[in-house]
Amino acid sequence: QHDDAGAAGTRGTGGELHQEVRGEVALTTAQGIPVSDNQNSLRAGRRGPTLLEDMAMREKIFHFDHERIPERVVHARGYGAHGTFTTTESLADVTTADIFAEVGRETEAFVRFSTVAGAKGSFDLARDVRGFAVKLYTRQGNWDIVGNNIPVFFIQDAIKFPDLVHAVKEAPDRAFPQAQSAHDNFWDFVSWMPEAIHMTLWQMSDRAIPRSFRFMEGFGVHTFRFLDASGKATFVKFHWKPVQGLQSVVWNEAVKINGADPDFHRRDLWDAITSGDFPSWDLGVQLFDEEFADSFEFDVLDATKLIPEEQVPVRIVGRLTLDRVVDNDFAETEQVAFHTGNVPPGIDFSEDPLLQGRNFSYLDTQLSRLGSTNFTQLPVNAPRCPVAHFQRDGHMQGHVPVGRANYEPNGWSGAERGPRADAASGFTSHATPLEGATVRERSETFADHYSQARQFWISQTDVEQEHIVNAYTFELSKCDEESVRERIVAHLRNVHPDLAQGVADGLGMELPEPADAALEPRTDLPASDALSIL
Ligand code: HEM
Repeated sequence: QHDDAGAAGTRGTGGELHQEVRGEVALTTAQGIPVSDNQNSLRAGRRGPTLLEDMAMREKIFHFDHERIPERVVHARGYGAHGTFTTTESLADVTTADIFAEVGRETEAFVRFSTVAGAKGSFDLARDVRGFAVKLYTRQGNWDIVGNNIPVFFIQDAIKFPDLVHAVKEAPDRAFPQAQSAHDNFWDFVSWMPEAIHMTLWQMSDRAIPRSFRFMEGFGVHTFRFLDASGKATFVKFHWKPVQGLQSVVWNEAVKINGADPDFHRRDLWDAITSGDFPSWDLGVQLFDEEFADSFEFDVLDATKLIPEEQVPVRIVGRLTLDRVVDNDFAETEQVAFHTGNVPPGIDFSEDPLLQGRNFSYLDTQLSRLGSTNFTQLPVNAPRCPVAHFQRDGHMQGHVPVGRANYEPNGWSGAERGPRADAASGFTSHATPLEGATVRERSETFADHYSQARQFWISQTDVEQEHIVNAYTFELSKCDEESVRERIVAHLRNVHPDLAQGVADGLGMELPEPADAALEPRTDLPASDALSIL
């Protein structure tokens, strides 16, 4: 039963909505040929074999056979919605990005929330990091903030990402566990990768079991740059603050909800939006200069560290409101392609080695996931501003360029000449002074793996600390390998003695010696209010 032209979902090129039969939408093949019978294949006699010439049946099954596309290698399970971003504070003094040029400017947005580890069909309330990916269709092209609900990351360098993801996903031999971190491979990896310890504190905290997508923060994680008209750079970190507040469930609830309603989070977002209770997030920026970066305790290029809001306050510059569910989950949520490399003029990257790797990875993976370089033409990915370039052809090309020039420079004029680049208004990279030999090294403070983990721990209330201890205890109790548990608790000793003792007691084991630390953990960092939910 269809109440609009969506029976076949497409318009004819003549613009007519559908073919009609006695006032109803006529069923057609993908070629537009009206179908006479959609229930009985064409057969040689009532009891004879089916005929190959039944092109309607063959086309129907052919298309069905190819309905599935590869799920994302990470963040496979996601849920999307449309909305609007409204600029509430101009940032024209620090960036030429058009989206921040004036107060009140409205920009269309699409958001996809996700879990990281589970397959597309997994449950919503797994203990996991949540993806918080935002596509802003600005007048100067698409800007994607491909973030998470946790402000730091497991690893410092993109070269480690395939190992992290292999370890976090189901083990290759037994193919479980599918959607949780409670297993030997993940904790074995972490035990050899102490830079991940800080993130595991967040992951074992209630942040990893959010009440719903509507009650989560979002973070761009990396340090980016804003550039002004003179090319001057200001470092920036992006934050999304839920106007609804920050809320989580407790583990007991999470386990029950997963059993009773694996779609709990997607249903919550759908229900809220369709009932007119539109969720909003304020966009905050932490702005700082080279001088601050040089004086900060850690390297601002290290994605396993955050900058406490007490040191650089978060300035609210806009509000994102989600007010429209998708028409079609596959066409929009599944086919949307986010990419950290999508930044408009006035915004630029930093040299964060994780971000630099991501800038390669997204485009690359989307070619295999979406099957064609022309995925930018899909409605959810297409910029809302005009696009003009000399890229041509490729699988599933949907544009029909006119004119003879598909190259430049060319000597043609007028419409035949095609588009041209402009140094003044086009995207420009920051002129970063660089020096040094090629090395496989990072600066020294990258080796401090525990200080900020400790800072997070001491910033938690008693009940939050108890939940963290319980979560480590539960997750590690699912590890069969005793040495894995020992190595993790040895790391936790470097974070805080109470944490290590609590987990060791929970697991019924002796406290191991503290793990060797490349850099002595600092104990002078103060608690930070913004790190606690309560
Ligand atoms: C997907 C965030 C690190 C590779 C995603 C998604 C998010 C995300 C939110 C889901 C996008 C969607 O909803 O479609 C992050 C964050 C990271 C991080 C916040 C660290 C700060 C990395 C790294 C790599 C990587 C280091 C690779 C070197 C991927 C890939 C996908 C993905 C391949 C699937 C994209 C697709 O198929 O469309 N990431 N990620 N990520 N991420 Fe990351």
